[in-house]
This record gives sequence, structure tokens and C-alpha cells, in this order.
Amino acid sequence: MLILGIETSCDETAMAVIDDNFKIYANVLYSQIEAHSKFGGVVPEIASRKHIEKIEIIFKEVLNKSNMEFKDIDIVGVTEGPGLVGSLLVGVNFAKGLCYSLKKTLYGIHHIEGHILSVMFDNNVDFPFISLVASGGHTSLFLVKEPGKYKLLGKTLDDAAGEAFDKVAKMLGLGYPGGPIIEKYAEKGENSIKFPKAFIEKKNLNFSFSGLKTAVLNFIRKNNEYPVEDICCSFQNNVADTFVFKINEAVKMYNIKNIAFSGGVSCNNFIKKKIKDFASSNNLNFYTPSPVFSTDNGAMIALAAFFKHKKESNYYPFDFKMNAMSRMKLCLEN
Ligand code: KG4
Ligand code: ZN
Repeated sequence: MLILGIETSCDETAMAVIDDNFKIYANVLYSQIEAHSKFGGVVPEIASRKHIEKIEIIFKEVLNKSNMEFKDIDIVGVTEGPGLVGSLLVGVNFAKGLCYSLKKTLYGIHHIEGHILSVMFDNNVDFPFISLVASGGHTSLFLVKEPGKYKLLGKTLDDAAGEAFDKVAKMLGLGYPGGPIIEKYAEKGENSIKFPKAFIEKKNLNFSFSGLKTAVLNFIRKNNEYPVEDICCSFQNNVADTFVFKINEAVKMYNIKNIAFSGGVSCNNFIKKKIKDFASSNNLNFYTPSPVFSTDNGAMIALAAFFKHKKESNYYPFDFKMNAMSRMKLCLEN
């Protein structure tokens, strides 16, 4: 079975073709970072326009690289939400048109489900696992019983971790996206500033990063000569410690032996190592995607579509009422 995945929820026009053995035939992506970086963040209007310009080119490229034609594809998955509604609409309508034209089965996919399952490309995953998804738009902890069965354990009540990285980088005038830049500066810095840690209390698996962001801002205002490297390093350590603390709480609460870390922030080698070290010292299996599957990509959406198809076995016609949803609940199991 061949699956095409389409992802346009934010600032990446991404598509991939995979098969039911998770083999990747092509994974193509157009990143809009250049168009947004001068604004220090994603500008929704620009994002939608760029998706429209690129989507057909990416579609042709993904098929070319896979050595296939669209008629060879069995099912299609497209990110339905959550995300920027204008961006999502481009992907959803493109996918609907495609699937209508050749009578292909189409699945609307929750973006976070893609991130959760992305660990399956590079790891032999045992279920159940605790999944921390940390990206520019989300920071959530799930108990994943099997593909399609997710229990939300906690989430950020304000900013996402990636958003905090982006905002701190903006405050320091370092550019966008902030994550990779902060990681670079942090390598040369000391963990010399004790920023407050949010929700470090038992039985609470929610996150909050807006207090940390404000603490960094206040610190910068009062100490404008302080080494940027140390600010980045202390901020990054704070996020890493919070992640480890919450994962540890979740593991104990649910008595789970496997943990996963995915989403754009899981590109961060320092944070990854902290979580990995925690896993090793507690005899837990640790799964994380390679960087190409950590940030937004079409392969994770194709994978989620495959599992949805396995469970629901829908065939053409698909639900023509499918629409982009800026907010969307992940199919939850208690
Ligand atoms: O998953 P993703 O590509 O898009 C969303 O679904 O949001 O994540 C993008 C986020 C950005 O906020 C970016 O700063 C962050 O991931 N990020 C990182 C790193 N690389 C990307 N955060 C920390 N360290 C990194 N190396
Ligand atoms: Zn994402």
C-alpha cells in the first residue's frame, strides 16, 4: 500500500510517499523560513500565499522522486488541523481536488498525531509509551496505548516550548526560528541564571512557559551586559529540566517503560540528551525521531493516515465536508 501525506499547517509545504512497511520513497519539503524570518515569526497571510505558490511544485516533486504517478497512490492523508486556517485550507482543498479526480481515499489527520507517530520511522517502538510533543504551537504529554489511542495527560496552559525559544531569540535579537540559534549560543554558555520553573509540583502534568519568557525578558532588561550565551544556556536548561521532571511524573503515575520525545523542539541535542540520560538511568526505552521527522513533514501525516485506514478501512468517496480546522481535538481515549 502506498500513502501520500500532505502537510501545510504552518510554514512548511511538505509531502511524502511511504508504504505500509514505513519505507519512505520521497520526503519533500519547502520551508518558508526566509519569508518569515524578518518578521521574527510566521505571518499567516504570507504563509497561505506561499503554500499556494508551492503546493503543486512539491506534489510533482514528491511523485518524481518516488518514481510514481498519482494513480499508483492508494490513500492520501492531509493535515486537517490544528494550525493556521489559511495554510491548512490550501492543503485540504488541494488534497480534496486530487482525491476527487482519481477517486482516492482521503483521511483528515490531526497534526499532533503525526508528531506522536513520527518516532516510528527510526525506532522499534513498544507500546504503551509516554509521548512529549514539543513544537512551535504545542507542548503536550500523552499516554499512547497504540496508534489511534491517545490520552492527553497535560499540556501547556500558555506558550508552547518552541514558541518560548522563538520569543527569547527575538528578545535577544538572534533571529527566527529561535530554537536552533539558542541551542548554538547555549553550547558556549554556562547555566548561571536560575530562572523560575513553572508547575514543578506533583500530580500536575501541565506546562507553562510564559512566566519563564517574562523572567528572561526582565533579566535582559536589568542585565544588558550579561553574556547572551549564558542566558541561552540557562533558558535551555530550564526547559530541559521541566521536561524531564514532567516525563518522570508521568512515567511514575502510569507505570510506563517507554518514553518518546517529538516535535520541532526534539531537534535540540542538549534537551534530547537530558531526556535520554534520564531514560537510561531509569531503565526506560527512549524514542525520538531523526531531525528530518522532528519538524513538520509529510511522512508523519502519511503514517497517521495509514493507521487510520487500518482501523477504519474507509474507501472512496471520502467525507467531502472535510474542512480546515484551526483548533481540533485529538481523538482521545480515557
Ligand atoms: O514541529 P515544528 O516544525 O512546527 C510546529 O508544529 O510548530 O516545530 C517548530 C518549532 C519552532 O518553534 C522552533 O524554534 C523549534 O521547533 N525548534 C527548536 C529546535 N529546532 C526547531 N527548538 C529548540 N531547539 C532546536 N534545535
Ligand atoms: Zn508540527
